[in-house]
Amino acid sequence: MTVALWDDEFRRFLLEHKFGMDEVVTKLSILRDEFAHLHDYNPIETVSSRLKTHESLVEKIQRKGIDLDGPAAYDEVRRRVTDIAGVRVTCSFVSDVYQVFDLLTAQQDVRTVEVRDYIAQPKQNGYRSLHVLVEVPVFLSGGVVPVVVEVQLRTVAMDFWASLEHKIYYKYRREIPAELLDGLREAAETAFTLDTTMERLHQEVRGLDALPQAVLQKLRHDDDVPAEDLVESLRRMGDGRSGPRRH
Ligand code: GTP
Ligand code: MG
Repeated sequence: MTVALWDDEFRRFLLEHKFGMDEVVTKLSILRDEFAHLHDYNPIETVSSRLKTHESLVEKIQRKGIDLDGPAAYDEVRRRVTDIAGVRVTCSFVSDVYQVFDLLTAQQDVRTVEVRDYIAQPKQNGYRSLHVLVEVPVFLSGGVVPVVVEVQLRTVAMDFWASLEHKIYYKYRREIPAELLDGLREAAETAFTLDTTMERLHQEVRGLDALPQAVLQKLRHDDDVPAEDLVESLRRMGDGRSGPRRH
């Protein structure tokens, strides 16, 4: 490790990424609060963020063979190490994942650098998530710096799967036994089936607000009705309703 890796420029570089990450988190918090207050519906469950540690960034720079003393070294790091700032968003439903993606990437000061849709095209092991690299401007005393932030958007079910897979991956030091791999792939498909079913129920129940008050009252007291039956009776009872609620 060269001394340059610990100098002011390196610290500044890392700090810029923290600011970019904070900006993206703020954008998502604003969207979440706006939805909570004005739309009475929230597409975002959780938002978390992490900045690569000094050590792990140094390790990645060295692994990629980037010479930090070379000309335009930091530009090369910016280009080749795009996960210094990471933000993760979980949503209840797949449609929410895409909605949050649309709302974030449509913002004027957000530039979409790259999109990897592992929901439409899951990884071989079953991993699903929507990844997007966004570039946001960070305004510092010396001027504006564009910072790339990796945003991972996924459903709660996808997140549950990914955190288990991550633990197993490290427990077996990246060499997972074949039976476990099969089990994980199967679990990923089960999780996605759950996501699909929940999405369908969600879309059907979204018209709930338009139902007459008396019907809502009855529904609130019928906790023991199975979800499928509830939706079916909702569909029948809701014949006269004014269509799904917009948000
Ligand atoms: P790095 O592996 O970070 O160098 O990036 P990459 O080029 O492989 O990008 P990719 O978009 O595939 O993955 C980036 C991040 O997504 C990872 O650091 C993980 O946080 C997450 N991720 C990707 N694949 C998997 C996976 O199979 N399982 C889990 N649990 N997380 C994954
Ligand atoms: Mg990877």
